[in-house]
Amino acid sequence: MIELQDIRKSFGDKEILKGVSAVMESGKVNLIIGSSGSGKTVMMKCMVGLIEVDAGIIKYDGQNFTGMDNHQRKEIRQKIGMLFQGSALFDSMTVEQNVMFPLDMFGTGSYREKKKRVDECLERVNLRDAAKKFPAEISGGMKKRVGIARAIVLNPKYLFCDEPNSGLDPQTSLLIDQLIKELTQEYNITTVINTHDMNTVMESGDNIVYMYKGQKQWEGTNKDIVFSKDQLLNDFIFASEFLREAKEMRQTDFFRSGKWRESLGNGGEEKKGAEKK
Ligand SMILES: Nc1ncnc2c1ncn2[C@@H]1O[C@H](COP(=O)(O)OP(=O)(O)OP(=O)(O)O)[C@@H](O)[C@H]1O
Ligand SMILES: [Mg+2]
Repeated sequence: MIELQDIRKSFGDKEILKGVSAVMESGKVNLIIGSSGSGKTVMMKCMVGLIEVDAGIIKYDGQNFTGMDNHQRKEIRQKIGMLFQGSALFDSMTVEQNVMFPLDMFGTGSYREKKKRVDECLERVNLRDAAKKFPAEISGGMKKRVGIARAIVLNPKYLFCDEPNSGLDPQTSLLIDQLIKELTQEYNITTVINTHDMNTVMESGDNIVYMYKGQKQWEGTNKDIVFSKDQLLNDFIFASEFLREAKEMRQTDFFRSGKWRESLGNGGEEKKGAEKK
């Protein structure tokens, strides 16, 4: 779990983060959404310590990350995996060498052990056959999967992904989302994703933080979004008329079918089951 308490960040006289508090839960895909320039990337960089906050506290499982020196932070950093925008692979290295890289930098153990771990991760993202290929020889979706394999090779407790679906078609995006979700649940990772992708929001949004002009405007789950009355959130999510109509139809269906009754009395699991039917 990662906790942000009233974090603030300015560049010059421009205040980018205006006191944001939020909780990123473990075993969940936590999404940060919001329009371009709302401060998502700055917030993520603050969380991993690439940018220092001006004020506020960031805690990793109760430990005050903001108060630590570089030496103390190193321990936490080693538990962090990052998937960068555009995958950021090393062009001169093969897929396998790219995934090996963090192990060579931070890992311990023999070459054989490291190779075994690399093979496991490539298997997990379904890329065993591409191990000897170079980034230029594989597709964008495959590059993302290499990026994911590299991000998880050190068994991270915390996984950060900045726009993991940028440049991908909707179906490939869904596969990437499912992969990240499965890994998150399988290894109980605290995953934080910055995204513009509405498919991701609807499919993976266990815990969504909506940022507006440097502040947390709204938070909730993908189910809550359909019924939210927050005008700014609605304008952002349901930007097109088509989607606004779809939202209204979804609400009508919910009330007509009597599902609202179930939602009052039952727990989340049953609600999920009812909606799948
Ligand atoms: N190092 C920096 N120095 C000065 N200003 C910065 C710096 N990094 C970001 N900013 C400013 O902070 C604001 C928020 O930027 P940020 O990259 O967090 O937006 P974002 O929500 O991630 O947008 P996008 O969806 O386009 O990625 C922008 O106005 C940007 O110009
Ligand atoms: Mg960004």
